[in-house]
Parts: sequence; structure tokens; C-alpha cells
Amino acid sequence: MCGIFGYTGHNPAAPLLIGGLKLLEYRGYDSAGIAVLNGSKEISITRRAGGTDSVARLAAAIDELTPAGKVGIAHTRWATHGEVAERNAHPHRGHSGSVAIVHNGIVENYLHLKAELKEAGYKFLSDTDSEVIAHLVAREIDRGANLAAAVGNAMRQVEGAAAVVATSVAEPDKIVAARLGNAGGIVIGAADGAYMVASDIIALLPHTNTVCYLESGQVASITPDRCEITQLDGKAVKTVFVTSTRSADMAARGRFPHFMAKEIAEQPESVTAAMRQRVDLATGRIALPEFNLTPEQALAINRAVFIGMGTSLHAAMNGASALEALARIPAYAENASEFRYRNPVLDSHTLVVSVTQSGETADTLAAMELARDSGCLLVTAVEAEGTQATRLANVTLPVRCGQEIGVAATKTMTATMVTLSLMAARLASLRGNLSEQAEAKLAKALSSLPALTGIALERVEPIKKLADDLTAYSHLLYLGRGAQFPVAMEGALKMKEIAYIHAEGYAAGEMKHGVNALISKDMPTIAIAPRDAMFDKMVSNVNEVKSRGGRVIAVTTDGDDVMKSLADDVLYVPLAHTLFQPLLNIIPLQMLAYHTSVALGMNPDKPRNLAKTVTVE
Ligand code: AGP
Repeated sequence: MCGIFGYTGHNPAAPLLIGGLKLLEYRGYDSAGIAVLNGSKEISITRRAGGTDSVARLAAAIDELTPAGKVGIAHTRWATHGEVAERNAHPHRGHSGSVAIVHNGIVENYLHLKAELKEAGYKFLSDTDSEVIAHLVAREIDRGANLAAAVGNAMRQVEGAAAVVATSVAEPDKIVAARLGNAGGIVIGAADGAYMVASDIIALLPHTNTVCYLESGQVASITPDRCEITQLDGKAVKTVFVTSTRSADMAARGRFPHFMAKEIAEQPESVTAAMRQRVDLATGRIALPEFNLTPEQALAINRAVFIGMGTSLHAAMNGASALEALARIPAYAENASEFRYRNPVLDSHTLVVSVTQSGETADTLAAMELARDSGCLLVTAVEAEGTQATRLANVTLPVRCGQEIGVAATKTMTATMVTLSLMAARLASLRGNLSEQAEAKLAKALSSLPALTGIALERVEPIKKLADDLTAYSHLLYLGRGAQFPVAMEGALKMKEIAYIHAEGYAAGEMKHGVNALISKDMPTIAIAPRDAMFDKMVSNVNEVKSRGGRVIAVTTDGDDVMKSLADDVLYVPLAHTLFQPLLNIIPLQMLAYHTSVALGMNPDKPRNLAKTVTVE
């Protein structure tokens, strides 16, 4: 939710700020803006709002009239308070215009602060909570504080989680960044004669690999040649820069029309990356060096809870099934936003596995904090390095698929599923539940997964045809049983998210309990029915839909002819080990949603009202 970028150096700031915003656009794109400081004279602000191309329109405006100045801050917005309009876009000016800020997060006590500031004569020009921070910083400066102290003091008055970058004409070569709680990260990059700050390292990588992650409760005061970090109250903190191993080309779209298409196509490689040096084909052993539990620790676990949101929740559901199946540990998955508020029973024998590709999802982080404070063993499966999830967890399992830019999660899900299956195998082995033969069989099945994923991807033509058909419908039903239930949920989520078609993912056993009433020719059913133990049950569901006049699109495995005789359309996927069949079944559903979105003339990379990283609850 919202992307932040800041620059202080010896080059014109505006083009660099726009470059940063382009790389952060996936975090929110309903509005975009920059503030450039022209020495101690003035802060020039340019903003654009509306649609999903605000960054492009801002870039065009800056091309026409480039504000002079070598210091600036920038923001892409995902609206939380106030409609999508230029006055609500960031940066926001503080009282008298001598301060500008960009903000990510929610100021929970903004109504109270706004009333107080208004009473004191501060004029509000936007409907946002963020503007409160601008005025608080300005008030602190008017009271004699320097910019860093002003930001620190302002943040101490704010309730909620926030990431802020500020600049002021009083200190014209400086930007100040601060973090409070988990509202998205702040990464500082040290380049030659310049410093930059960004919500995500991806925006720094074209300039530098030398980075420092700001912690919650810290303030960074940055000039072109110096970065000093303190706590909010000004107490000095050691500033540690590290070298990132990531590369800038991770964000390039290459020959693909959309990032989502590229990320779907990358899955044979990303699935491979998730198991590289973790699965030894020669010995048939599965290793997961990051998961270095002792057998005693593994045996002490008496249940496991997997938490996540959206697609990550679906990956979590798959992980919980794998763990229960292999390690025989009672396991279930739960929506992190529910888990965090319902006072769950947790103790040191509970394994909590958080799934979050971004490592920044607010609800998932809050649920992790609860698990950590309850003494649970806390594992996180993440894509993004150095993020808050990795700092909260006892064990971090990188899913290693590379940065995903498309808002719809695809390769992060499948890489996470592989990673969690390795964890399940390791725990099973440590607890004595996995024989060497069974482990070797799993290793072999894993090794065939990249090729099978590639085969599933090649079968795109029937999917494109079907996608054209689906543009005519407003409702879709996705059905699955057992391990295919999360697949049905994920297929429906993808369709809703990028094609804006109402779609429900259901456990097929629920049909008779209400959902059958919806069946008609106007709502096709997508039945996930591979040749597994649940196949016959799915055949019954498909028959029920057909006998009520519904259209059925079956996803089944190669060689089946039962679904072929029953369903209106069949999408075949290669047959795999039971544990990995869900991963293969997801591939045609990702492609179906993608091509439906394209056929409807939408941009699947930037669905309306959504953002890649949800740093507010
Ligand atoms: C899925 O396509 C979405 N982008 C969304 O559901 C996402 O999976 C969810 O917001 C969780 O994100 P995370 O993995 O970064 O925690």
C-alpha cells in the first residue's frame, strides 16, 4: 500500500524520483506525486490522481516542466482516507508550506489530531489522515526543532503504523525518514554522493546495492554525504549498511506484454529455484538448511497453524495439508486478520507458519507478533529479503522466486507451495514419520515438477479460447475437494481480482447445502477434478451441475476420459505426485484469469482498488 521514494544528492532530483516511482507503482497507483526542494527557496509539488496510470501522467508533466532541485520526495498512493483526487495525493505540505511529507500507513488518531490542529489555526487542504503528519512536523519546526527531531516528535504523537519521509526548506539538503510499526518498510540506499530511501529495495537497485533497513521506532536523517539514525527521541542508533545480492533486472518485463504473463511463464524456473540445493536427487534427500531444528525441537511441536492473507492464505492451506499428511502434526490454516483478533490458544508447542510473499502484510505481521509474544516457534515463508516478517520470525524460509510485480500473486504462490512442502518433509523426517524410500520418492516427484509446470504452461490455446467465452459471464463458481479446495479458492480469487468477474471458490461438498440454488446456464462451474481419491465425488458434483442446466469446465489430469464425457470443456494438466497436483492445477487457472482479463481489455498488472503490498489492515 503506497510507495515512497526520496533522494538527496548532487543530480537533478525529479527524474530520479519518477524513476523510483515507476518501480514502486505496484504498491499503489491511484495517485502519484513528487516534491522537489529548490534550495532554501521553495518546495515545488506536482501531483496527478485517478485511473491506474497516474505515474505515467506525472512523468509526462515532469517532462514538460521539470522542477529544479537536487532533493526530493515522491509517493504512489493507494487511497485509504479521502477520495482519489489531486488534493488527496501526496506529498502534503505542512503549515505555511515550508515542509512536505509522504506517508504510508494509517494515522489512527487523525480525527483527534486534526481537530486539535484546526483549533490551533492549521488549515487542511486534503481529506487524508496523512496531512496531519505534515502539520505536526511543521508545528515542531515552528517550536524550534530541527527536521529530524520534528519528525521524531510528530511520530510520537501518531497512533498506528506509519512510514514517513519529510523534507523542509529550513534544511535544504536533507530528507528525514521514519518508521513506526508495520506500515511498509523503509530501505536507505547509499550511492556515490547521494542517498536514497524507498519502500522497497527494488527501487534502489538501479543505483546501489548498499542498503540499510530502518527499524520501527527509528528516524534517519540523510544528506548527500551522511546518514544518521536515531530513535524517535533522538537517541543515537548504530547505522549498519549491508550489501544486497538482488539485481535491478528482477523488475524488467522483458518480452512479455504484462508482468503477470512473465511471472506465470517463469514458474518452471521459480519452482526450480525454490528447491535448488534443497533437494538432492543423487541421494534422494530433502534438505532445508534454513530450517535447522533439532529432532527434539521437531518432536516438541504438537500442532501447527499456518497464517496468511489472500493468495498466501491459499498457499498456507496447501502447506497445512502437506504438513499434516507427511509429518502427522495436526495443522490448519487461518486468515491472519481473524487469527490476530480472536485470542487463539497458543503456546511454545505451537508451530506458527506465516506465509507472506512481501513480508509486509499488516495483518500477517500483527498475527506473527501475537505468535511471537505467545512463545510459539515462528516460521515465515517470504520472497522479499530483509522485510519485517523475516525479523519477527525465528526461522525464515526464502521462497526464492524473484520479485513479483504483477499485483496478482502467481509465481510467489507456487514457489511458496514448494518451500512449504520441503518444510513438511523435513519435519516429517525429523520426527521419524518419513522413511528414506518415501523421502526419495518425494525428491523424485519434486525434480519432475519444473518440467510438468512447463508442460502445463504450453497448453495455453484452449485456455485463450475459453477466456474469450468467459468474458460473457458475470458469475463463476470454482469447486474443489480436499487438496483442490484451496486451488478452487485461488482460481476464483484470480478471476475476481484481475477480470472483475464475480467468482466463488467452494468446497464441492458444500453444494447441496445452499450453493446448488445458484446453478443455472448463466454461471459456469469450474470443477477442479484431477484423478485423485476425490475424483468420484467430483464426478457426482459435475453431474449435479449438469443436470441443473449449468455449464461445466473441468480441470483434470492427462488420460482422463470421464470428465471429457461429462463436462462442456476440459483443461488437462499433467499428472503429478498427489502432494504437488494442486500446484499444477493452479497453472491453468492463473492463465484463464489472465487471458480473460486481457480479453476484457483490462490491465491484469494493475487491478482497480488493489495494491501489491497491503501494509494497512
Ligand atoms: C493475490 O493475488 C493478492 N495479491 C493478495 O491476495 C496477496 O496474496 C495478499 O495480499 C497477501 O500478500 P503477501 O503474500 O504479500 O502477504
